[in-house]
Amino acid sequence: MAARNLDAAARDLLERNTCFGVEGGRDYRFTAPSPAHYPFQWCWDSCFHAIVWARWDWRRAADELEGLLAFQQADGRIPHVVFWNPERILWWSWHYLESRGLPFLDRPPRFSQQVQPPLLALAVERIADAGGGDDYVRRTLPAVASFHRYLARERDPDGDGLVSVISQFETGLDYNPAWHARRRPLRRPVAIFARYRLPELRTKWERFELARVFGRDGHQESVAFNTLHGLALRVLARLARRIDDAETARWADGAADGVTTALLERCWDERAGLFLGLAGRAERRRVVRTIESLLPLALPDLPTEHAERLVETLTDPRRFAAAWPVPSVALDEPSFTRDNRVRGTRLIWRGAASLNTNWLLVHGLRRRGFDDVAAQIAERSRALVERHGFNEFYDPLDGSPVGVDGFGWATLVVDL
Ligand code: GLC
Repeated sequence: MAARNLDAAARDLLERNTCFGVEGGRDYRFTAPSPAHYPFQWCWDSCFHAIVWARWDWRRAADELEGLLAFQQADGRIPHVVFWNPERILWWSWHYLESRGLPFLDRPPRFSQQVQPPLLALAVERIADAGGGDDYVRRTLPAVASFHRYLARERDPDGDGLVSVISQFETGLDYNPAWHARRRPLRRPVAIFARYRLPELRTKWERFELARVFGRDGHQESVAFNTLHGLALRVLARLARRIDDAETARWADGAADGVTTALLERCWDERAGLFLGLAGRAERRRVVRTIESLLPLALPDLPTEHAERLVETLTDPRRFAAAWPVPSVALDEPSFTRDNRVRGTRLIWRGAASLNTNWLLVHGLRRRGFDDVAAQIAERSRALVERHGFNEFYDPLDGSPVGVDGFGWATLVVDL
């Protein structure tokens, strides 16, 4: 597919995945990751969709964020999922588990009680540059800033500059094996589900009250979540300067500095040459090498020596330099699975490659001057889509499609 065809195919897909909803008497539209399999609006997916939409139609891109902002809470939180179409909610699924209310007793939830990596500022900047201008920044910046302030204020109970997730699913990397925090991976799907989902049941029982969740050692510092929070804080600062909001710019820059410093001081593992997430009050390191360990390459202020060590691992054929990059789990990890399946059960982010993490890495690598590595990942990503279409994941060994097809964020490939 020539570049122009790829662009047209991407637009066509995002049009096809467009869905509609109503809130407070107003109409909204958003792009579902996949209307058949993921029919709701997801926070970080929508930011990726907006970034791609902005290439052709900044107003359509802006609509993507409107739907999320319509559900922003008084404390600044923006939900991880908006359930625009309650008829698609399943009583036995995570839909209730991650939201208020009980099946059969209450009305179906409108939105989940969790968050996802906060990438709104990146989308706002693209929309502003594509035509929305400073007016658009002025209109949306307060909402985006208040989301980051919520994270800094409510989600950092130990005050170390790293925000904590309340569920593994808040990282956007569902079932990432780093969450086992052990070398011998869990082998049985039922054990994995229990390990990842039972804490969510407890959090629901605790009515999502952060004091209770953090009080019982539910404190979890994810490298992926913090990296993306830090990356977006930098963009927030830039946007604030653009509209002469010096106070927000100062705050966001200070918070971004704090995130990078904390990642370096607490999550950097010198021996592994990687960033590792932290579990619980004792901050035990999550020792499994996964894509999240590499994501700090997206941080513009990561010191060069750390970036170089990460690139060594990224380009190591035993680890992340697969034929079809970049695997979500290192090839030599015992938990690596090429098709996101454990004994036949679908469990994602356990090895297969995804184009949203490729996009984050490619832009980060370019910013840091690793042009050759970036170009290679970009070229292989385009080849994946040309051969197999826009997929949720790809097998890093043979490039075959894994998971859902017609998947929204795979269109990021046109922005590499
Ligand atoms: C899965 C992914 C998550 C994504 C969602 C919708 O849950 O892990 O990152 O946001 O699907 O695409």
